Amino acid sequence: MQTERLRIAIQKKGRLAKECHELLKRCGVKINFSGDRLIVHAENMPIDLLLVRDDDIPGLIMDGVVDLGVIGENELEEVRLERVALGEPNEYVKLRRLDFGGCRLSVAIDKDKTYNGPQDLAGKRIATTYPNILKDYLDKQDVKFSTCMLNGSVEVAPRAGLADAICDLVSTGATLEANGLKEAEVIFRSKAVLIQRMGEFDADKTALIERLLTRIKGVIQAKE
Ligand code: PRP
Ligand code: ZN
Ligand code: MG
Repeated sequence: MQTERLRIAIQKKGRLAKECHELLKRCGVKINFSGDRLIVHAENMPIDLLLVRDDDIPGLIMDGVVDLGVIGENELEEVRLERVALGEPNEYVKLRRLDFGGCRLSVAIDKDKTYNGPQDLAGKRIATTYPNILKDYLDKQDVKFSTCMLNGSVEVAPRAGLADAICDLVSTGATLEANGLKEAEVIFRSKAVLIQRMGEFDADKTALIERLLTRIKGVIQAKE
């Protein structure tokens, strides 16, 4: 008999964290999130939660280090494309798209500039945290560009003279508005997803995952 607990990676803090806590609670998983711990044990099920940076979740799944993860599709796709390019493990199983974390990855430009399509981005420098998704998209349009990699404050890059345009997540649009930018092109639409590592699971873990999935379906349907 295998006694190992099911390991689920979720975001430690940020947009998805609160929603994840809420989802787990509604699924009947009892967890005490107080304190500043990396691993928390569910009180009533053989589940351990790993609280990590969202950027790390796709890799933890693709390397088979954790069993399940909740992550935004944008982050997941960015890491997948990067790993494909590097020849590193990049597979996962998508168990279910969730009903939160909705946002879009868009190219934005100075609000006073005109935009007639992707060709207008040819030869431009675009600041982004998602260089691989951006390249994948613009390669398909046959548009050559250069990037300026930033992990934060992407929206100030044009004003700071670092880039001609940006490619960043947009939710309400307030950040673009506040920085004199306008959305020119949506390149990726994202929601949170529940993903699973590749490979085998013992009977106990398989049953537990099934039970969780059934409950998640119920929780989402109840809200619809
Ligand atoms: C994202 C993104 C924008 C903002 C967009 O940042 O980078 O800054 O949200 O949202 P809005 O359209 O509602 O203004 P986030 O706050 O997730 O964190 P980060 O930039 O610090 O990573
Ligand atoms: Zn992040
Ligand atoms: Mg931001």
